[in-house]
Amino acid sequence: MKFFIDTANLEQIKEAQDLGVLDGVTTNPSLMAKEGIKGQENILKHYVDICNIVTGDVSAEVISTDFDGMVKEGEALAKLHKQIVVKIPMIKDGVKAIKYFSSKGIRTNCTLVFSAGQALLAAKAGATYVSPFIGRLDDVSTDGLRLIEDIRLIYDNYAYETEILAASVRHPRHSINCAQMGADVVTCPLNAITALLKHPLTDSGLAQFLADAKK
Ligand code: G3P
Repeated sequence: MKFFIDTANLEQIKEAQDLGVLDGVTTNPSLMAKEGIKGQENILKHYVDICNIVTGDVSAEVISTDFDGMVKEGEALAKLHKQIVVKIPMIKDGVKAIKYFSSKGIRTNCTLVFSAGQALLAAKAGATYVSPFIGRLDDVSTDGLRLIEDIRLIYDNYAYETEILAASVRHPRHSINCAQMGADVVTCPLNAITALLKHPLTDSGLAQFLADAKK
């Protein structure tokens, strides 16, 4: 399973990259705003800065909601760097744009996916990645992880190559469950990645070994 970091914060991206287990980055307009990145020129530069830190895919989201606008924006984003994957919302024009980009060899990440039906359409349109938001489903008392399971079954039934990129992953248990259910990628904040390192028995065991080594 691949690990992506879900942030536009360059320091956190560097820290995850230094850990040696990072496979890519996902961003969205909210994460860019959180870092104070404003204006088209700065936004595009920031995507290139991210691509220069990591070796894997970097999702950059369009903000247009009509087909022509998404195509124009997506083509400009894809030209920025070979690691860019154009992130497109799961709406009617978005599905058309994914199909268009797929025919042009431009890779896409279909975002804001909350149902298996949406994921099926994304795969049929040729999305490279599909992003089910599991945490936000949990927020409304729906089983987000069940959606990962459903999409895995559907994609395997028909050998769709679209990769399941579990998003809105909030804590280590989410990541472990996604791995059990066969998600291809998990994207989460840095703290949810580093939380996987932690176990109190590791800490106490190490303290004991170090103490015994001095004897
Ligand atoms: O990748 C999508 C992600 O950024 C959404 O996460 O925690 O805002 O639901 P969250």
